Amino acid sequence: MAQPSLNIGMVGHVDHGKTTLVKALSGVWTDTHSEEIKRGISIRLGYADTVFRKCPSCAEPECYTVEKKCAHCGTKTEEIKTVSFVDAPGHETLMATMLSGAAIMDGAMLVIAANEKCPQPQTKEHLMALNIIGIKNVVIVQNKIDLVSRDRVLEHYQEIKEFVKGTVAENAPIIPVSAQQKINIDALIQALDTCIPVPEHKMDKETQMLIARSFDINRPGFTYNDIKGGVIGGTLTQGTFKEGDDVEIRPGLKITSDGSTRWEPIFTKVTEIHAGKSKVKKALPGGLLALGTLLDPSLTKGDSLTGQVVGKPGTLPPTREGFLMKLDLLKRVVGVTNEAEINEIKTSEPLMLNIGTATTVGVVTSARKDVAEVKLKRPVCVQKGAHVAISRRIDSRWRLIGVGIIED
Ligand code: GTP
Repeated sequence: MAQPSLNIGMVGHVDHGKTTLVKALSGVWTDTHSEEIKRGISIRLGYADTVFRKCPSCAEPECYTVEKKCAHCGTKTEEIKTVSFVDAPGHETLMATMLSGAAIMDGAMLVIAANEKCPQPQTKEHLMALNIIGIKNVVIVQNKIDLVSRDRVLEHYQEIKEFVKGTVAENAPIIPVSAQQKINIDALIQALDTCIPVPEHKMDKETQMLIARSFDINRPGFTYNDIKGGVIGGTLTQGTFKEGDDVEIRPGLKITSDGSTRWEPIFTKVTEIHAGKSKVKKALPGGLLALGTLLDPSLTKGDSLTGQVVGKPGTLPPTREGFLMKLDLLKRVVGVTNEAEINEIKTSEPLMLNIGTATTVGVVTSARKDVAEVKLKRPVCVQKGAHVAISRRIDSRWRLIGVGIIED
């Protein structure tokens, strides 16, 4: 398997079939944490890679597959490209995770189940998030068509068309499928292949990797000699990494001493690079990567480095404890049944801010109609001009209310 060249996000309302669809497209079940299996929902971001393939003998769309042998004629299929899927959770309490996943998506599948009326609250909220983050390459998947009549599929199609009017997904193809019964998966691969192209990779820029997950891969009972260093997973947004590179991670480690707190960058070395299912010597921008490091695994355990940025020492953007942002707020709250108007941002209110893969809370220190200054509870490493997804606490849940652009 070649290194994945892009990330395709799975977004949509809870239980509409995102994880099942990833399974149909890659053979990987991304809900692997015990709590996720117990509760039957995706809690953290799931990963899976697959190779899109094409049969040289069959017509379109039947020629599209992920199998090495064509199911129609038995011919050996040819590789088109390797992609990574980022499976975001659909539950409304997990919007922060969905937003940090969206930061690394090059395009997305908006999964909408045909056995419920469209739009459901998180169908709306996730599409708004794609709009805010600027993910323009969208394929809409009309899932669970095996559960409804042909007439209902057509009616649901009209509901979707009406719902996406005026959004990034207005002209997105709508592909009817059954993820569970694997119906029409070939047409879906064709749509993904044509509508979500491989982005232009900025290989010659300073290396920056957004961390989406971090792990301690050692099992209980490992002896001292077997212990592996901490592993970090994410996407290179620009530049490259080689095995053996020295790297810096920012904001790094929280140090509390004499009653004051500061964040210190972490320095380590890349010992291994995994891209797709293979170990590689060099990592390129595109799909999801895992870097083995010399870090103490306790530092990477349980996603503790999620939201941080990795680069070559001395080249990363500054660590910011606060910033000024230009605001662009939505008119109404989405993702709730009662879509109330969004009021202006006020001084001293807390906001949840998603910047790259980082989630932090910023307390507003000053606010005017279209700009706000925030002091962060947890600093972020980010450059000027970056987008910030802004959420406000409404009825005890964080709700997306708009976007900010970092000015200073
Ligand atoms: P979250 O990640 O928690 O948001 O859920 P999800 O969108 O990943 O949904 P998941 O794939 O876990 O599917 C939810 C339920 O719908 C499961 O019981 C699936 O078996 C079922 N399901 C998914 N796709 C289909 C389909 O095409 N047809 C039918 N009949 N059931 C489906």
